[in-house]
Amino acid sequence: MTPSPKVAGGDGPGSIRLYARIAGTGSCLPPRRLSNQDLADQLARDGIETSDAWIVERTGIRFRHFADPGMSSSSMGAQAALQALEAAGCAASEVDLIICATSTPDMVFPSTACLIQRQLGIRGGAAFDVQAVCSGFIYALSIADAMIRTGAARKALIIGAEVFSRILDFKDRTTCVLFGDGAGAVLLEVSSAPGIVASCLHADGAYADILKTPGTISGGEVLGDPFLRMEGQAVFKQAIVALGETTEEVLTLAGRDITQVDWLILHQANIRIMQTAARKLGLPMERVLVTVDQHGNTSAASIPLALDHAIRQGLVTRGQSLLLEGMGGGFTWGGALIDY
Ligand code: UT7
Repeated sequence: MTPSPKVAGGDGPGSIRLYARIAGTGSCLPPRRLSNQDLADQLARDGIETSDAWIVERTGIRFRHFADPGMSSSSMGAQAALQALEAAGCAASEVDLIICATSTPDMVFPSTACLIQRQLGIRGGAAFDVQAVCSGFIYALSIADAMIRTGAARKALIIGAEVFSRILDFKDRTTCVLFGDGAGAVLLEVSSAPGIVASCLHADGAYADILKTPGTISGGEVLGDPFLRMEGQAVFKQAIVALGETTEEVLTLAGRDITQVDWLILHQANIRIMQTAARKLGLPMERVLVTVDQHGNTSAASIPLALDHAIRQGLVTRGQSLLLEGMGGGFTWGGALIDY
């Protein structure tokens, strides 16, 4: 997936290779925070049984944030983007590309990215959404990297933003305890050094049915089932395979080995998936960022949320190497090795 970097001014001596580097990050979580017990009490009122003990043991999740009616993927995405711009010391007017990864857009169209662009008060640059479910942020990052390397963009906001609470069936305990809402953003800028060292993207539509929200809008109505449905164990198995393959591929492309990676930043779906992936790599959990306990699974927002929180806590620091990996509905998966 990673293209050869563009050589500005030809291939001769003095020419400059273009790369994309992270200039700043930001995030946004809705103020409403529910513990497992809060959710269990809410479900009990409808006769649905679950418990803090089951959720913690099977997933590692303890809290999730749910958006109130006035919030949306675009409003949270815009807040995360503003934080990323501030962290980078960059004016919104300098941004020439916005890619928003979301499976819960504000509307069928225009794209959430265009709505974010409007909220940032900027005009004219490219803006579009990417729909790759929980791998969406990695897809968006990789596309932006390619555009920056080829000179098509110089400053790109890459945003993952989701309101999964709006597609959850709160009568289905196998899914409604797993997900949360939020947004994360990264400002990428053109640089003469990486940055994003390597990335890969994959999909296998044969697994489309194991994780889906199959409903659609037609003739003024929602047709079909508008809720998220998941075959949990099938997704779990697929996730483990996808993460293993991604690690190997990205490290090979980057010419690195796992000992040169400071932080493994996985899509935050289930602590057991992360523990299995780390064990297979011989990586101690101290080098794996974990936010699933605090945020639940926020789909495309989970990786940039985890990254931004770790940067703001001083865990991830400049000069470190980060291995980002996502997997989810589609089935989709991918990863990126980043020198931060
Ligand atoms: O974001 C995209 C990627 N998503 C993922 O990676 C998710 C992957 N899958 C998973 O994380 C796990 O499969 C789940 C967390 C979804 C489920 O964990 P599991 O260990 O695979 O549980 P299970 O589906 O085998 O269910 C075990 C039992 C069942 O009861 P029986 O049949 O053994 O009596 C379920 O009915 O747990 C029951 N159960 C629950 N009990 C209390 C399922 N959900 C709940 C619940 N509370 N919320």
